[in-house]
Amino acid sequence: MSKILVTGGTGYIGSHTVVELQNAGYTPIVIDNLVNSNVGVLDQVEKITGVRPAFHQFDLCDEEKVHQFVADHPDVRGIIHFAAYKAVGESVQQPLKYYHNNFFSLVNLLNAYAGKPVNFVFSSSCTVYGQPDELPVTEAAPVKKAESPYGNTKQVSEEILSETAAAFSNYNIISLRYFNPVGAHESALIGELPLGVPQNLVPFITQSAVGKRGPITVFGNNYNTPDGSAIRDYIHVVDLAKAHVAAIRLLEKGNPNGNYDVFNVGTGQGNSVLEVINAFEDSTGVKLNYQIGPRRAGDVEQVWGDVSKSTNELGWKAELDISEMMRSAWKWEQYLKEHPLR
Ligand code: WQD
Repeated sequence: MSKILVTGGTGYIGSHTVVELQNAGYTPIVIDNLVNSNVGVLDQVEKITGVRPAFHQFDLCDEEKVHQFVADHPDVRGIIHFAAYKAVGESVQQPLKYYHNNFFSLVNLLNAYAGKPVNFVFSSSCTVYGQPDELPVTEAAPVKKAESPYGNTKQVSEEILSETAAAFSNYNIISLRYFNPVGAHESALIGELPLGVPQNLVPFITQSAVGKRGPITVFGNNYNTPDGSAIRDYIHVVDLAKAHVAAIRLLEKGNPNGNYDVFNVGTGQGNSVLEVINAFEDSTGVKLNYQIGPRRAGDVEQVWGDVSKSTNELGWKAELDISEMMRSAWKWEQYLKEHPLR
């Protein structure tokens, strides 16, 4: 069965995608430098699917190693490129670290596959829209100036990919613009492993609930939204993983839209911070302590996606709702308490 290179395949979204690729009959091969993940994730994937994915530990910024990998694996026809730094705040402090890693790894991969027929799926973000003028935001909405170097790496990477597709017909590329991935695999064997204090809402909620952290701070309750807290389109990581399988399938079939395309990957529904807190309490029965704090710098007020293009053209739709996201995230946090992976 078709071999798919998954860079960053031991990470949060990468590991769930490896599982869904295996479930769909593909053979994923993982490259990861383990800078923000744990090699034990491969054992966990094996527990879920019964198959341990092939693994190569190196840094994609090492051009020679990337070329060697390509020479050693002439049968790879699909690439899903997750490997990248992704902490918004850190990217403001260390922009060059972000530009170096996120661009060099992408360009090295693209150079190494020049002239070879490959289907390429890129991990992009709804951050490229900033605060959209219209909601729900469609793929045709203008890309707004990025709020952080991290966001800028996603915008510029999309440009690199669209220009590469225009110049080299061997490339068939899809950028998936993720909204807010949360939750964990139903087995609770894989999930998100945040380093240090979580910056994202749901890992903070579960760590607070398990007693690892103090009360949650709701960043702002004076936004122009029904309950005053900010709104996002939360998407279950397993649904998101399946969107990658759908993207690979579309590229294999031939994308009628041409050899570069973008899709929103969300549920099409927005939830406020307070609604997420309520959903967690309702679906787990666990009470949370929270307080209202000031807005966080750089946050947009509200964003959720129009998912009609992904529904109609990618043939993919999110199936799991916010309570399933919360239940699985909580089950994973409890698993981690018994089996610390970091
Ligand atoms: C969600 C909402 C916060 C923590 C970021 C990146 C994006 C993507 C995912 C990937 C916001 C509020 C949060 C807390 C809170 N990148 N919040 N208290 O900012 O939408 O997206 O992560 O790797 O590119 O920008 O996600 O989970 O940080 O925040 O009130 O303790 O929860 O203000 O409204 P965000 P998030």
